[in-house]
This record gives sequence, C-alpha cells and structure tokens, in this order.
Amino acid sequence: MNENKTNINWFPGHMAKTERQMQKSISLVDLVIEVVDARIPVSSKNPYLDKLWSRRPRIIALNKADLADPEETARFRKWYEAQGFGTIAIDSLHGKGMRDIQPLAQKLCADKLQREKERGREGRRLRLMITGIPNVGKSTLINRLTGRSEAAKTGNKPGVTKHEQWIRIGSDMELLDTPGILWPKFEDQETGYRIACIGSISEDVVDSYTVSLKLLDFIRPKYSKELAARYRFTDDELELTAEELLPVLAKHRGFVLGGGRPDLERAANTLLDDYRSGRIGRITLEQCPEILPEEAAGTSADKTEEEK
Ligand code: G4P
Repeated sequence: MNENKTNINWFPGHMAKTERQMQKSISLVDLVIEVVDARIPVSSKNPYLDKLWSRRPRIIALNKADLADPEETARFRKWYEAQGFGTIAIDSLHGKGMRDIQPLAQKLCADKLQREKERGREGRRLRLMITGIPNVGKSTLINRLTGRSEAAKTGNKPGVTKHEQWIRIGSDMELLDTPGILWPKFEDQETGYRIACIGSISEDVVDSYTVSLKLLDFIRPKYSKELAARYRFTDDELELTAEELLPVLAKHRGFVLGGGRPDLERAANTLLDDYRSGRIGRITLEQCPEILPEEAAGTSADKTEEEK
C-alpha cells in the first residue's frame, strides 16, 4: 500500500452522519445481522457496532462461505459464538444457509419476546436490519431473503437511507429494506490489505500490483498446494519472494510485453480475479485467534453450511 495513503481516513465525511443514522435505525430493530466476508471474518467486521449494540442480540453472518475454507469458517464461528454472538455461515449468491436465519433470530430474541408476552403483547414480527462494510454481500442477502431480484444497492456509502421501509420475511420477521453500510476498519496495514484482497477497496486507493503481492503472502503459508496447482509453480518457485513469484506467474501464463518483460499488471489482475472468484480454491486469509476449550463448548458452529 502506498505509504502516503496508509493513514487515510477512508470515509471521513460520512462517519458522524453514519453514526447518527445507524443509531436511529438500530433503535428500530430487535436484532442486527452483521454481514462479514467469511474469507476475512475479523478484518471485514467493523468494531463500531460492538460499542453501539453491546448486549443486544446480533448475528454475525459469515457470507461468501462458498469461497472460504470450511474448517476455518467453523473455527471463526466458534470464536464468535464464544463471545456471545449468534453466527451463521451462508452463501447468499446461491441461497445456502438462509433457512438458519429465522430460527436463530427467534432464539436470540426469545427473552425479549417472552417479556413482551408477559406484558400482554404477543404475535408481533421481529424487526431486523442488515449491516456490513461494502462488498460483503449485504444487498445479495437482502434480495435472497426478500425474494427480490432488483439489487438493494445504496451506492456503498456508509449510512442508511432516511425513510425506512420494512419488507416481510416469512410470517414472523420484517427486514429494513436498505442495509446499514459501515466503513471498513483500518486498524493496521495488514487489515487494510486483507480488505483490499477481497475487493472492498477501490484500486484508486491501493494498486492491484501491491495487493497481489500481499495476496501471495497471505495465501502461501497454508494454501501453497492450491497456488501451485493453479499456476504450475514448482516447489523451488514457491520459495521465491512475492515480488519474484509474480513475474513467474506472468511467464507461466504467457503474459509477456515487448522485449520479453513480464506483464505484471495483467498477472496481478489475474491473480486477484482468480482468488476473488474462488478459482484458486476455498481460501481464508486470516487465522482465527485461539479459542479456549471451555469457551468452545456447546457452540453450534461445528457444521458447515453444506452439512446442514
Ligand atoms: P454489498 O451490498 O455488501 O456491497 O455487496 P453485494 O451484495 O453487492 O455483493 C458484492 C459481490 O459479491 C457481488 O458480486 C455478489 O454477487 C457477490 N456475492 C454476494 N454474496 C456472495 C456469496 O455468498 N458468495 C459469492 N461467491 N459471491 C457473493 P458482483 O455482482 O460480481 O460484484 P463485484 O464482485 O463485481 O463487485
């Protein structure tokens, strides 16, 4: 990442406004579904909601689970569940894991509903909203849940629209029709690079060459076999630095410019495209922090979305 750009406040103008709008929307709902990218379940989560939402129920939806390593997804779910979140692993593009949402939402709101029932208020629908940083799949999830084909696009600017509309999902839930868009967090450079790898940061901010080198370094420790299979890297080549390996990728693919120079831009874009569309394999780019055995007990994260 360009050194001059590392400390940029990525969405400076929107922060205060977003906070106000988000607070307002959150006050209207019983439960928030925070969508994260299953390939970077921590880096793609904005800790802002943790402050705001604190003890109220929240579901972390690890979306794009079809592109992530299923073992890692299960591990991250346990880790989040140990912190008191509900979790689901979903693939909104193909509609997998959708049926887990309703029972989990009901379970997480059971106490509240029970208290209301005791006060004579029964049978109301649960109100939900969906939040997350750009490009994690919020609109795709909303469209899946509501059966709409038209994208619920909001221009990917942090914030939510002023006029809320509710869409019924099934018989007992209502969803706010536009997602709350959070700004990505950039606590350190590595987090920023991971978010760039999944395509949530404009190439104006960080160029694809730099991101592709980082991607090679994130992938290699655990998934060098997948990388070698896709680009026919030899064991020796896999030992090269990322700067040395990208020209090899260009050479293997025949991306050569005049004078025999490797076309690094094309190699970088190919690598990023291949990763983002799952062609290299199901690869998670960050490691789950350790879970203490007693924390892990009794969580529902042992099954992948396919196993359910
Ligand atoms: P957003 O509202 O959070 O910004 O995300 P959006 O739904 O627009 O989804 C961003 C991209 O991710 C879309 O691809 C969408 O199809 C894809 N996507 C969403 N959920 C999933 C999922 O569970 N699995 C997979 N594999 N892909 C998913 P796109 O239209 O091609 O946009 P782009 O990638 O060109 O930006």
